[in-house]
Formats: sequence, C-alpha cells, structure tokens
Amino acid sequence: MAAIGSAVGLGNIWRFPYVCYQNGGGAFLIPYLVALFTVGIPLLIVEFSIGQRFDSAAPRSFSLVNRRWEWAGWWAVAAAFIIAVYYSVIMAWCLCYLSHSLGLSWGADAPAFFLQFLGKTSSPFALGGLNLQIVFALLFVWTAIYLILYKGVKSIEWAIALTVPLPTLLLLVLAVRGITLPGALEGLEFYLTPNFAKLSSPSVWLAAYAQIFFSLSLAQGIMIVYASYLRKKDDITNNAIITALADGGIAFLAGFAVFSVLGYLSHTTGVPVEEAAGSGIGLAFITYPTAISHLPVAAALFGAIFFLVLLTFGLNSAFSMVESVSGGVVEKWGLSKPRITFVICLLGFLLSVPLATGAGSYWVDIADHFISNFGLVFVGLMECVVFGYVLGTEHIRRQVNRTSDLWLGRWWDWLIKIVAPVILVFIAAASFVELLAEGYEGLPTGALMAGGGMVVLSLVAAIWLMKRRAP
Ligand code: TRP
Repeated sequence: MAAIGSAVGLGNIWRFPYVCYQNGGGAFLIPYLVALFTVGIPLLIVEFSIGQRFDSAAPRSFSLVNRRWEWAGWWAVAAAFIIAVYYSVIMAWCLCYLSHSLGLSWGADAPAFFLQFLGKTSSPFALGGLNLQIVFALLFVWTAIYLILYKGVKSIEWAIALTVPLPTLLLLVLAVRGITLPGALEGLEFYLTPNFAKLSSPSVWLAAYAQIFFSLSLAQGIMIVYASYLRKKDDITNNAIITALADGGIAFLAGFAVFSVLGYLSHTTGVPVEEAAGSGIGLAFITYPTAISHLPVAAALFGAIFFLVLLTFGLNSAFSMVESVSGGVVEKWGLSKPRITFVICLLGFLLSVPLATGAGSYWVDIADHFISNFGLVFVGLMECVVFGYVLGTEHIRRQVNRTSDLWLGRWWDWLIKIVAPVILVFIAAASFVELLAEGYEGLPTGALMAGGGMVVLSLVAAIWLMKRRAP
C-alpha cells in the first residue's frame, strides 16, 4: 500500500493525461505498456528484491554488492530529493488552488489567472517577485510531510491508510461526474483515439519510459527502502505487479476524469477539444479549472475535490522520498532519524522557496525534464549494471522465485541484462540528440545547461556523500 502511495501521485493525474494526449492519445498506451513491461515491472522486481535482501536503503544496498558502487545509491537518493523539491512546489500550487476553487477565483479567464498567480516572468533568468502565498503553502506542505514522518511507522501507516483510498474514491467521483456530462464522449474520443503515426517518433517512446520511471518512483531508492520492510517470505513479483498495475490503472482513470470534462468544456464553449486542452502544467491549473467553472451545480465542490485529490496523492509520494534519503543517511552515519527527517524537510523547504518566484515554473519544468529523462534513466542503467551483472540476475531470480507465485524464467535475466539497458542507453542518447537539435520549450541555452548541471551536480553530490566516511 505504501509503495502504491509513493507511485501514485501528481504523475498520474497531472502528468499522465497530458503526456498521453501529447504523444498520440490512445496510441500512447502501446509505448506506455511496452515501457511498463520491459522496464517498469522488471526494475520494480529488482528494487523490491534488493530492499528485501539487504534490508537497507539504496546507498548501503549498492555498497553491499560492492563498496565501490555506493555512489550509485546516493545518486538515486539525490534524484529523489531533487524531484521532491520541485514536486513540493506543484503541491503548493494545488494547495493555493484548493482555496481558490472554493470561490472559483479564476473567473472567466483561467489562463491569465494562472500567470498572474505565478507572477510568471518572461524568462527563467528574470526572477520576478516572491509569491508569499506559495511560500506559505510550501511551508504547510513540508510541515505536513515532517509531522507525518517524525513519529515513525505508526503515523505513516495512518497517513497511508488515509491518502491512498480516499483520493482514489474521490477520483472515481470525478470520473463519474465527468463521464455523465454532455460532450464527455468527444473528450474521451480525443484522449483515446489512437494516432499510430506518432509511434514512429522516438520522442513518444522516450516520453513513455520517462513517465514510467517518474510515476513508479523508480531509480530513486524509494522502492528499495520501502521493500526493506518486507518479510523474507513476502511475494515480490505479486507486489511489483500490483503496484505497477494500480499505478497505471489510476493514471488511466485520471485520464477519464480530465478528458471527459474537457469534452464538456468544448461542448459548452464550442471550442474544439484540441484547442481547449492546452498542454503541460496548464492542463491541471488552466483547462480543468476553466471546465469546472462551467458546471451547472457544485462547481466549487468539484474544483476543491480535484485539488484535494492531487494534494493527498502527492503527499505520500513526497514523504516516500524523505524515507529514501533519511534511510541512507541513518544507515551510514547512525544519526537519529527524527533529527535527519527534520533536516531533510527543512532543506527541502529552503530549496523550494526560490521556486516560488516568477521564474519558478520555468525551473520546475526544466528540473522535471532533465531529472526524468536523464537522471532517472542513468540511475536505472546503474541498477541494471550493478544488480544485473555485479550481483547477478540469477541470484535475484532465485531469491524471488523462492517466495513468489509468478515464476521468473531465464528471460527475466535477459530483460535486466540486455533489453532494459539497451533501451535506457538509447533513450538517453535520443533525448540528448533531440535536445541538441530542438532545444526544449524554446528555453535559452543557459537554462538548459543549468538543467544538465543539475544532473551532474547530483552525481557529484553522490560521490561526495560516498567519500564521507562514517565516524
Ligand atoms: N511517483 C510520483 C508520482 O507519480 C512522482 C515521484 C517520483 C515523486 N519520485 C518522487 C514525488 C519523489 C516526490 C518525491 O507522482
């Protein structure tokens, strides 16, 4: 349940529908499922079995295979931390929008409202003002994460028991409301009509793999540290498949909730769905709010439910990151866990504050693009190398097969040793070529270099952490 909580988050509700829509609609389900079965589930099995085997967070797991690989574990941890920093900013926007939705404050012009809300500047290097509302929301988000974690397992169990079923139920309510609106079918048609021509573009495949990594919280030490709580007799393949399918299922459901409402919007305003949809971050903060305000009854309520769903699903993803980092630190330096948890949350908060400026949304986008397309893919590759070759897939397979219903055959070794790494190298290379050729979102080169710098910096930080010897 905790693993599902970590996996399901803004990635399913805010990211999946627009990535799907941008990359061929229904046809995107093909690369998505291929990514799920060639890398998502196999790597999830690796992470679960590694956590169960070594009873440790990522850094020590890597170093137990061989001490010289410890940095790869810290790299995973660093990636989780960076994601949490910008992720908390989107959660803060959700919190602000939760209150805005009560009065439908975006009025008739949600796009303008969003820009004004962000105080968005014209370039990532023009900071603009600090939006105090977002800063307070960030403080709230990080405090909530800290309060859930500092008491340890008991309060985490509570938080998970609340933040997984509740938003799932609410999402179902949103989907039912959406589907029963006039025009919903056009929206769904738009979401699901396959555009197979798109499948020939590598960027579509890239998007599918990046989405899988991001959404399954892979390559960040998160699933490893969570699996360290598994008992030796627990079934790994079942857990991995359940986690992956729950994650995919909720993403798919979120698409219904979002696109049915878009269909309704186009039905009432006469604007075609493709124009109504907008893209990227805007889908959750512009289009959905616009659509909601056209609802005949209880518009504010449905707006509030939507942002509450985002917020609660986001929360358990965010605190899973803290567990990954604190697990690594506590195991290496034997410090007190509540204290480390406090330091991580404080640091996370302080680093996210600059993202509450007018340039913040640019950097959220840049960090997301670079860390998911390069950072996570590199760490995933390291996992295939270290656990697949150095430790050896046969050992993992034997361990998994001892307790699991679903038997892994030899083919699984090939998946981890050859198929997944080849795909990951290809993704990284193709992303890089695409970046050189097309840039990203028209952003200035300096900003892109800073994005690449984040990936490099996280690696340097990882090596630095490895070199700090325990006292
Ligand atoms: N799995 C989360 C989602 O789908 C995203 C995520 C991955 C995340 N790693 C994280 C969120 C670390 C916060 C911190 O939304």
